[in-house]
Parts: sequence; structure tokens; C-alpha cells
Amino acid sequence: MERIIAACKSALANDGYVIALTGAGVSAESGIPTFRGKEGYWTVGSREYHPQELATHAAFQQMPWDVWAWYLYRRTVCRRAEPNAAHEALVRWDRAVGDRFAVITQNVDGLHRRAGSPDARTFPIHGDIELMRCANDCVPDRWPLPEGVPLLEKGQAVDEATRALLVCPRCGGMARPHVLWFDESYDEARFFLDTSRRLASGAALLVVAGTSAQTNLPWQVVTLAARAGATIVDINVEENPFGEIAAQSGGAVRGSAAQVFPALVSALI
Ligand code: OAD
Repeated sequence: MERIIAACKSALANDGYVIALTGAGVSAESGIPTFRGKEGYWTVGSREYHPQELATHAAFQQMPWDVWAWYLYRRTVCRRAEPNAAHEALVRWDRAVGDRFAVITQNVDGLHRRAGSPDARTFPIHGDIELMRCANDCVPDRWPLPEGVPLLEKGQAVDEATRALLVCPRCGGMARPHVLWFDESYDEARFFLDTSRRLASGAALLVVAGTSAQTNLPWQVVTLAARAGATIVDINVEENPFGEIAAQSGGAVRGSAAQVFPALVSALI
């Protein structure tokens, strides 16, 4: 850890962005199951699905209300969770660094926002479970889920009254969860693709935490930051491909985000 703190301090002496790239592991200690952990499964009728099978546009077209039911249940889990010490440390770091700071998050749980990270410097690249948008993409706008949409429990179906609320406020067609699905692509208007690339290309320090490195844009962020000469640090309870990249740069810490982030941030601000 001493060596990592020293590497971060020397990176902070350079101009350039200070970026935290976060994944599901950062919210694990808030009680939200990680995506690929064993609690991530999803039951429809008598069948268990892996998220990769059902978090797709194709599945939404076939069984939209089952897909909505799963997201409304996950939203309940997120609502009942509280930000943890990792989210709070990132708010402190944001306040200390200001305009040069950014959080790029794969998490749709909104915990960075609820902890106090400012919207202007927080980029949820996989969407936000509290938002919906037009299922026909009539505009890229997102809207908060209407009041009256209930907190569904696991396995609870979406009733008729709720279905009537889950419509696009602009065209009246069906709404969908504002999340990126496995058979969809990143873009700037909805998922901050260009912003993330721009930040990464100008990074001085990139701390990656709690992600298994399975998705495309986080790879681009890490690769672009490495190419820009940024110091890269990985925080994760397990080995992962970003840890190998970080090991050649700032270093990899094998520990929990809620323990490591507060220690790292306190040493740096
Ligand atoms: P994963 O569930 O794939 O990985 C979670 C990572 O967090 C693993 O590497 C764990 O070792 C690590 N981890 C678990 N607990 C931790 C803790 N307390 N502290 C630090 N690390 C911990 O989640 P993501 O990598 O975020 O995208 O998944 C990326 C994306 O995959 C998700 O956003 C989702 C899915 O495709 C979309 O839905 C588009």
C-alpha cells in the first residue's frame, strides 16, 4: 500500500484527470449482490436465467413485463441499500480535487449520487435503475420512474396499474429501464461514451475498483488511460485482468473497496 500511495502522489503532481472507475464490488458492502456473483440469478416461472440471457433487448421484446419485474425488484434492493465507506471516500476525494475529478461507474444503483458525488462529474455508463426511457427511442431523454411505481419484491409481477405508469411521457409508447443491455452498444447521449474516452485520454491517475473487467467501455477507459501514461491502480478482493495492468503501473491492492478507498483517499488529500 505504501508503494501505491507514493505512485498516486507522484501522479497527482501532474496535470490530468483523477478518475475512479467503479463496478459492482464497490456496492457489495452496501448489500447489493454483484453481477456475476451467485446471487445474481433471475427466475421467470420455473426457469432460472443468468443475467446475460435476460438483460437483453431481445428478452425485453419477448417478455417485457418479466424483464421490468426483475428491474423493479433490483430497484427495491438498491433503494434499501445505503452508500458505504467507499462511496463516501470518493465524495471526499471529489471535493478535494474538484474539476479534475470524475467517477465513471458501471453501477446502476445510484449510490455514488446518493452519497453526494456531483452529477456533473459522475458518469453512469450502464444507466441508472431509477430512470426509464422510451422503449422505441423516440428521444434519448431519461425520466425518473413515476411516483406510484411500487417497490416490487423478488418474483412479484408488474400489475396493470403499474404497467399504465411505465410509458414514455413524450410519445405514450412503452417505457423501458434506462440500462445498457448485453445486445446493445454504448453511445454518448445515453451512456457517456465520448466523455469517458476523453477523460481517460487525459488521465493522470485512474483507480479501478470492484470490477471483473468483462465489459467494453471500461476496457477502453483503462487502455486509453494507460496509453496516456496515467498511473493505474486496481482495488479488488480478487485477481482480475485490470489488476494485471495495474501491477505494471501504480499497483494492485487485494482488499475490499470499503476499506481500501478510505485509507487511500485519506493518504492523498
Ligand atoms: P461483476 O459482478 O462482474 O464483478 C464484481 C467484481 O467486484 C469482481 O471482480 C469481484 O471480485 C469484485 N468485488 C466483490 N466484492 C468486492 C469488494 N467488497 N471490494 C472490491 N471488489 C469486490 O461486476 P462488474 O464488473 O461491475 O453491465 O460488472 C460489469 C457489468 O457487467 C455490469 O455493470 C453489468 C454486467 O454486464 C450491464 O448491465 C451493462
